[in-house]
Amino acid sequence: MMNTRFFANENRYDGTMKYRRCGKSGILLPEVSLGLWHNFGDVDTLANCIQMAHYAFDNGITHFDLANNYGPSYGSAEETFGTIMKKSFAPYRDELFISTKAGHDMWQGPYGSWNSRKHLIASLDQSLRRMNLEYVDIFYSHRYDPETPIEETLQALVDIVKGGKALYIGISKYPKEAAQFAYSYLSQHNVPCLLYQGKYNLFHRQPETEGTLQQSYDNKAGFIAFSPLAQGLLTNRYLQGIPENSRIARGGFLKKEQLTNEVLYRVSELNKIAQQRKQTLAEMALAWLLKDEMVTSVIIGASSTTQMADNLKALQNIRFTKEELKAIEDICK
Ligand SMILES: NC(=O)c1ccc[n+]([C@@H]2O[C@H](COP(=O)([O-])OP(=O)(O)OC[C@H]3O[C@@H](n4cnc5c(N)ncnc54)[C@H](OP(=O)(O)O)[C@@H]3O)[C@@H](O)[C@H]2O)c1
Repeated sequence: MMNTRFFANENRYDGTMKYRRCGKSGILLPEVSLGLWHNFGDVDTLANCIQMAHYAFDNGITHFDLANNYGPSYGSAEETFGTIMKKSFAPYRDELFISTKAGHDMWQGPYGSWNSRKHLIASLDQSLRRMNLEYVDIFYSHRYDPETPIEETLQALVDIVKGGKALYIGISKYPKEAAQFAYSYLSQHNVPCLLYQGKYNLFHRQPETEGTLQQSYDNKAGFIAFSPLAQGLLTNRYLQGIPENSRIARGGFLKKEQLTNEVLYRVSELNKIAQQRKQTLAEMALAWLLKDEMVTSVIIGASSTTQMADNLKALQNIRFTKEELKAIEDICK
């Protein structure tokens, strides 16, 4: 454990990191945000987590994305972040935009999951304790719950903001119709939805095809993309097999079966275009998302500062020629 005090890089706002306005709100978010889903758990090395968090902030990443059950084990990513908050980030609290979420499985019994008022409020209280925070900047409903009346969920979110435990509200993975209801309800209750968080990458185009990206824009909310590298598929990570300690090797949400010959072929073809652009595939995949101004930020889930450095280089070139875009589409369709 590092005991020396953390002094943030004085050049962290030197213009290298760009900030985008989140919908029609007062909030600016860094083009690249750091997610703590699978890389900050109690199975991970604390020293590496601390190093990544410092590296992020030193490079202008002001937004850290968490959820109640990130780890593994559940809650441990928030605990790790709480340690970093206490040891390093406390003097910088007002420079940070921290999220958490509730709605997926968290604890046993009837109140440990989904979207009841009971679950959301109890879960946020637990999250704040784990993270050593008095409030989060944004609290998300992590997924749509078809069983709980949506008004109950949304009113709980409104009340959470009114009670001062979150400054803003977001929704994640809501189907389009439920999202529309949420945008309208929240704005009618004077707590407009700040952000829609959805899975979006070269291989996963639902926000385009289902229209949730355009919908967030039309509702004056921002859109933040999760799994922008398809959990590592859209990088050079698996081009020479499955490395030890990679997300696939560790087991979890990314399965070996997803690494089909067709996926590998597409990845290697995309890699050729990236090389022509003098980028790594990871850089190109992030740049491809950020070329669209409706995308406020991409949440990367890197496992090392080396990967983070690579990902941040994406910002140096987010422009694509028509020919490049067509070639990319031909590979991905
Ligand atoms: N709202 C939701 O329901 C939801 C769901 C999922 C995620 N999220 C959020 O989105 C964040 C990001 O998701 P994600 O972790 O799936 O993101 P991702 O950036 O698509 O994937 C991260 C993985 O890609 C690999 N990687 C990253 N940069 C690389 C590079 N430059 N070169 C080679 N490999 C690289 C790493 O693999 P290795 O581990 O193998 O090194 C890393 O674990 C999460 O942390 C979370 O905050 C939200």
